[in-house]
Amino acid sequence: MLAGNPPLAGGVLRVTTRPAQSCPASRRLRSCHRVPTLVRRPYRTGDLQPRIAALHADSWRRHYRGAYADTYLDGDLLGERTAVWSARLAAPDGTATIIAERAGRLTGFVHVMLDADPRWGSLVDNLHVDHSEHRAGIGAELMAYAARAVLAHGSSPALHLWVLEQNIRAQKFHLACGGAQVETGTVSAPRGNPTLLNGTPRKYRMAWPDATGLVSPDWNRSAD
Ligand SMILES: CC(C)(COP(=O)(O)OP(=O)(O)OC[C@H]1O[C@@H](n2cnc3c(N)ncnc32)[C@H](O)[C@@H]1OP(=O)(O)O)[C@@H](O)C(=O)NCCC(=O)NCCS
Repeated sequence: MLAGNPPLAGGVLRVTTRPAQSCPASRRLRSCHRVPTLVRRPYRTGDLQPRIAALHADSWRRHYRGAYADTYLDGDLLGERTAVWSARLAAPDGTATIIAERAGRLTGFVHVMLDADPRWGSLVDNLHVDHSEHRAGIGAELMAYAARAVLAHGSSPALHLWVLEQNIRAQKFHLACGGAQVETGTVSAPRGNPTLLNGTPRKYRMAWPDATGLVSPDWNRSAD
């Protein structure tokens, strides 16, 4: 177990982030606000489900349109996501959920299913950052926490996820985080109903054979 691992298995971990502006001017580099962790403590789930569900639904509507049908995205997606999160947080064994907050506002979350695949290891099932907070390092920080959870509680250090073929920005993020595109698959239809998809969208499996690199990143970030 790595030093500094969060005490997390089958629960929710809350991470508080600080705004980039809080970095001293002399250190206001792109990397400065990439060490935003101030608080790590288990979350009493309380009213968390609707907050995560709202961010989740908003992010799907913004970024998954074209793969999922408009009728699905513009329907009761919030109700569906709330039900999913209520079930997840009520029975969290074998999973890890990390949420990022700033000033009490949810800025992002990641959900990991430990040991989901015998070959590819634990699965990052969802990773979403509030659209107004993109490119502030929150996604990378959440992946680092996901990796810590896998290293602490998974039976192998391997981590993987699926990303939509159309989601080029997320693919760039995953590549910058050291992931490798290893496989192409077909997107599963919501509720098993193919009419809720647009055609036959594809997805890529991104893999990290050893999640350690996500904890101590040496990513290929942009220099500008
Ligand atoms: C993908 C996502 C989680 C990334 O989170 P983020 O907080 O914006 O990403 P970070 O700021 O931590 O980015 C880290 C590095 O990834 C790369 N990166 C991130 N977004 C990028 C983009 N849109 N284009 C190119 N590179 C990008 C960059 O190298 C970046 O470092 P830099 O800003 O110093 O150049 C976020 O964009 C998101 O929530 N997207 C919508 C939902 C989604 O697609 N989730 C992933 C599903 S698989």
